[in-house]
Amino acid sequence: MIQVKGLEVRYGAVTALQDVSLQVDEGECVAVLGANGAGKTSLLRAISGFAPTAAGEIRFKDESIVGQRPENIVRSGMSHVPEGRGILGQLTVRENLELATAPWRRRGDSIDEDLERVHSLFPKLAERRDQRAISLSGGEAQMLAIGRGLMARPRVMLLDEPSLGLAPVIVTRVFDVLEEVAAQQLALLIVEQNAKQALRVADRVYVLSQGNVVMEGPAAEVRDDPKMAEAYFGV
Ligand SMILES: Nc1ncnc2c1ncn2[C@@H]1O[C@H](COP(=O)(O)OP(=O)(O)OP(=O)(O)O)[C@@H](O)[C@H]1O
Ligand SMILES: [Mg+2]
Repeated sequence: MIQVKGLEVRYGAVTALQDVSLQVDEGECVAVLGANGAGKTSLLRAISGFAPTAAGEIRFKDESIVGQRPENIVRSGMSHVPEGRGILGQLTVRENLELATAPWRRRGDSIDEDLERVHSLFPKLAERRDQRAISLSGGEAQMLAIGRGLMARPRVMLLDEPSLGLAPVIVTRVFDVLEEVAAQQLALLIVEQNAKQALRVADRVYVLSQGNVVMEGPAAEVRDDPKMAEAYFGV
């Protein structure tokens, strides 16, 4: 579904990613683990078209998407749940969800089934549908961000640190839902610092350190590998 080869991302003199290769297959849940500044956000932003690619190849459904505009990439079936969630606080929960259908929706198309699906995953969002998004708790806001990602009807969803700033019990709930979503023929690419939760739900894992992939494998193997901690925290 997604193939990244030899990806390099630079900000002026700063090299954020160097020779990164990874793959996400259909229906697979892949986690990229890395500490602060490892390059996780840069990786997702390059894939979804928000960060320029200095070198390398990014393919989505067997087509090169390097240099394509983010809105075209979304329309072709990739949604990105950004770091910090990117919710529009002055709009209601329902309006935030509705906006995310723009890539596919034509006049007269119903979004009832899409809303129902999101509400059944996150009943709190149904309760709060007419509330302004700014009034949500951190956990609810993350759920809304994921709900929005789903409203775009993606084939693959990229998630940037869904655990960020949330209490441990909420993080567990968010990852439970991601596990449920992953079981519904949707591919997920999750970048995380929270290795424990990500390893719990992912099929395969890459470890990113200082812009390089330093380790990869099935989640069960990476979890039990004594080199994991060292790889994760870098030198
Ligand atoms: N817009 C930018 N301009 C300059 N340097 C940047 C920019 N964005 C990121 N960087 C640098 O690129 C490197 C990777 O940053 P990135 O945000 O991708 O890491 P991250 O793994 O997402 O970190 P965090 O866990 O803090 O979110 C860092 O050294 C960072 O300082
Ligand atoms: Mg980041």
